[in-house]
Amino acid sequence: MLEKGFLFTKAPLFLDIATVYFFILPFLLFFSIRYAIRGNYKKHINSQIAIFIISMVMITFFEIGMRMEGGFFALMKQSTFEYTPLFIFLLVHIIIATITIFSWIYLIYTSYVSYKKGELIAHHVKLARYTVGGICITSTMGIMIYLAIFVF
Ligand code: HEM
Repeated sequence: MLEKGFLFTKAPLFLDIATVYFFILPFLLFFSIRYAIRGNYKKHINSQIAIFIISMVMITFFEIGMRMEGGFFALMKQSTFEYTPLFIFLLVHIIIATITIFSWIYLIYTSYVSYKKGELIAHHVKLARYTVGGICITSTMGIMIYLAIFVF
């Protein structure tokens, strides 16, 4: 897991896998949302649940790998970027990521429960759009941090 990855950078394998996954995540969401737009709700719901579970497994895998590497601060030493701006960027990333995860958990739980009762929470689409926005911003910032540490 900590051996060198496959992306031709200095990054460990678990970070390469997580980065590639978070790059494709917005596209997976896009395909799932397309099912809802086309009225294929069964596929929309099943794919949303699958994407959510895979993402939670990925985040856990990423966090375990990070602890084994000695934490973010140990990795940050490899970057040519200055400590303070990188640290602030990371902090903003963590705040957006945390809000997004709570909003995602709330969205998936309330949507599923209300759909099972034969209705759908009125604000599903609105909250879903914010959540998708948060996921896209978090993924992009995560990829930028990867680039800042292992590429530049
Ligand atoms: C498993 C729980 C979910 C259920 C039961 C569900 C169900 C639905 C249903 C029935 C619609 C159609 C609503 C309408 O046309 O008024 C819809 C639309 C939508 N859903 Fe979900 N959904 C779930 C999870 C999610 C999640 C987690 C996201 C985003 C991360 C999401 C994103 C969207 C979006 C963006 C639309 C709007 C599509 C459009 O513009 O027409 N959904 N969902």
